[in-house]
Amino acid sequence: MTESPAGCFSSRVERLPGFRDFYPEPLPDGEAWSADVRQYVFDTWQRVAGCYAFQPYDGPPLETLDLYTAKSGQEIVGQLYNFEDKGERAVSLRPEMTPTVARMIAARERHYKKPIKWYSFPQVFRYERQQKGRLREHFQFNADIFGDTDPATDAELIALLIDVLRAFNLSADDFVIRLSSRNAWQDFFNEHCSDESKAYDFYQAVDKLERTDPGESDKIFKSLGLTLEQVRIFIDSCEPTGELQAVLDNLTARGLGDYVKIDYNVIRGLAYYTGIVYEAFDRNGKFRAIAGGGRYDQLVELISGGKKDMPAAGFAMGDVVLTELLKDRELLPDLDGNILVFAMIEDETLRESTLGLVQALRDKCWEVDYPIVALKPNKQFKRAIECGARFTVRLENQETVTLKDLKTKQEGELPISELSDRIIKAICPDDSE
Ligand code: HAM
Repeated sequence: MTESPAGCFSSRVERLPGFRDFYPEPLPDGEAWSADVRQYVFDTWQRVAGCYAFQPYDGPPLETLDLYTAKSGQEIVGQLYNFEDKGERAVSLRPEMTPTVARMIAARERHYKKPIKWYSFPQVFRYERQQKGRLREHFQFNADIFGDTDPATDAELIALLIDVLRAFNLSADDFVIRLSSRNAWQDFFNEHCSDESKAYDFYQAVDKLERTDPGESDKIFKSLGLTLEQVRIFIDSCEPTGELQAVLDNLTARGLGDYVKIDYNVIRGLAYYTGIVYEAFDRNGKFRAIAGGGRYDQLVELISGGKKDMPAAGFAMGDVVLTELLKDRELLPDLDGNILVFAMIEDETLRESTLGLVQALRDKCWEVDYPIVALKPNKQFKRAIECGARFTVRLENQETVTLKDLKTKQEGELPISELSDRIIKAICPDDSE
């Protein structure tokens, strides 16, 4: 791409691959991502996190590179958007939020009563091969609890995960949480292999088992002193450990038992997990993981250079797979971007009074629009229709307004003082009786 002397580009500037633009509804085409859907997803995440008494936090999108290199594991380190900044610091866009929140906790945990329950929905960046459900940026709902080792903490997080998905009208027929434990896998590994330094390689091989050719997996396990057969027998046992049984009992007591199953195929790719781990999948297996998480009791200690010891557990849910799933199940709400009122200005001498009326209606938090500059009445009406307005209003003089209901086609003059009551009556007939 070259820049012409006039300062304009001689070829079209494209969006980077794996990144998204978010457009307002109604969308221009089936490929476009919706800013309204994104807002709906954020609102739902925030609402349910609030019901579980989680508090919001946030951190910077750019961190020092070494926050990730030692702590997240090779897979994510290979996907970093890292570079040297102008101060010659090695930095990276965040590929996930967990190291950031662990760093924040290590710095200021003394100020907060335990257990600390925090949530956030950052945009994160991973230089991945673009494929269905995998982009180079995504938004992630993160929920984490610090300061408690009891499996009841893990159960609280899994209940939140289930309730977030239920808040999108997904049911136990749509998704399941596959529950596993690094402790169970660690015991299995110790039984068969005495070289602890190979444990992470082993976890990686188990993590990729469902996506790897069986012959290839067998070769990897044999190099670690095991066989694929032994690994399969362990997975098929589905025998819950004590901590997993405690989680199952806790969720069953809440009436959420149908949403979870023991599945030792899950082990999680990230290096820092230490105990219970889980992933949420759609029941038909059509999509990649909707969410994943687990216990990471040593990360705060590692990040604080051994100064803080703080048990932790949490999960993250990405917006990409979630939105694809909601679309597939036709569970996205009708987000048409419609407004409530369009204020017409046919007599320009009434523009200032109309601005006052628009302001008063907006003070009620109603969606209101009007012609910013003088416009022919037929063009104003066309604009009202395009905005999906339910009503048009037009000042006749300082006291009177004409209200038209574009749904019922009813039109009439009324005093300005009665306008909002009349609109409320029209949109919620039962409430106003
Ligand atoms: P993760 O499994 O790497 O976990 O990511 C969580 C979720 O983010 C995935 O289940 C998936 O829905 C979504 N996701 C991941 N990568 C991509 C991508 N390239 N494109 C679109 N969506 C993606 C973590 O990030 C952990 N930090 C979660 C956690 C929080 N553990 C404890 N607290």
